[in-house]
Amino acid sequence: MIQRPRRNRVSAGVRALVREHELSPAHLVWPVFVHDGPGCTAIAAMPGCQRLDVPALLDAAREALAAGIRALALFPVIPAARKDPQGSAALDPEGILPRAIRSLKQAFPELVVITDVALDPYSSDGHDGLVIEGRIANDATLPILAQMAVLHARCGADVVAPSDMMDGRVAAIRQALDSAGFSETLICSYTAKYASSFYGPFREALDSAPRFGDKRSYQMDPANAREAEREAALDEAEGADWLLVKPGLPYLDIIARLRTHTCLPIAAYQVSGEYAMLKAAARNGWIDERACLLESLLAFRRAGADIIFTYAALEAARWLRA
Ligand code: PBG
Repeated sequence: MIQRPRRNRVSAGVRALVREHELSPAHLVWPVFVHDGPGCTAIAAMPGCQRLDVPALLDAAREALAAGIRALALFPVIPAARKDPQGSAALDPEGILPRAIRSLKQAFPELVVITDVALDPYSSDGHDGLVIEGRIANDATLPILAQMAVLHARCGADVVAPSDMMDGRVAAIRQALDSAGFSETLICSYTAKYASSFYGPFREALDSAPRFGDKRSYQMDPANAREAEREAALDEAEGADWLLVKPGLPYLDIIARLRTHTCLPIAAYQVSGEYAMLKAAARNGWIDERACLLESLLAFRRAGADIIFTYAALEAARWLRA
C-alpha cells in the first residue's frame, strides 16, 4: 500500500484540524523607538518604523491594543549631547524612557511594557557595558544595570529585558528588584544574543554603533550553538522568566535547541536587519510581503518560540485578524 501523507492536506478543513502550530497577535511584542521629539523621524533602513515622541507612542499603543497586541518593547533614542562614557543618562528618572513608561502605564495599565536594559543607547562608546581602559568591564556594569532595572520597574515596567550579555546580570537584577519591592517584575533575558551583523539598522535608529571595536567579547559567536545551552542554564538559575534568542530566522536552530532544554517561555527577536530585508524585497515587488512576513513569524512558533518580537507586529496583527 502506498503511504499517502497528502490525505492530511486534502482540504482546508482537514488542514486546519491537523495544523500543529498557530500564530496570533497575542504572541507578538512590538519593539518601538522613542525619543524626545517633538514629532517623529523616519529611519531610512527600517521603512514603516519611526522614532516616536511620547504622544505618538501613546497613539501607537492604542493601535497595538486594538489590533490584539498586548506588549510593547521600548528602545530610547538619546541625543549625542546627552551620551557620556558612564551612560549616566540611563539612570535619569526624567529621561525619555522613564517618562515614556510612566505615560504608557498611566494611559494603558493593561499593556505589558518591556524595557531594554543595557548601556549602549546612553554610552558615548556605544557599548552595552562600561568601558574601562578599552575593555568592557563586566562586574562594574552590573550595579548600573540593576539600578536601571529598578528605575524602570518603579516607573511601571512589567518586564525588564537585559540585552547586554554581561555575565551575572540576571542575578544582579533579580536581587535588586526583589530588595526594592519589585518581586513581580519579570526578567526577559537576552540569553543567546549573537554578535550579529543584522543589527545595523537598529544602530542607525539609535546612533549607537560601537565607537571602537565590536561586541564580540560579550555577544555570542555566530558559530556556536552548544554555548547557548550554557547561557540558558545560567540565566534560568539566576532567575530569568523568559529566555530570548536573537537574531531570529538565522537562529531558528538555537530556538529549537533551547526548547528541548528549558521549561521557561522562549522569545524570538526578528531583528532590524531581518525586517529591512523583508521590506526591501517587498518594496521591489520581489516577494509577497504579507505572505512572507506571516510565514517567517509562524516559523518562530514552529521552532518553539512562545513570544515573538517583530517590528512588523502591527501589520502582522492586522493581517492575522483580517
Ligand atoms: C543593544 C541592542 C541591540 C539590539 C537590541 N538591543 C543592538 C546591539 O546589540 O548592538 C538590536 C535589535 C535589532 O537589530 O533589531 N543592547
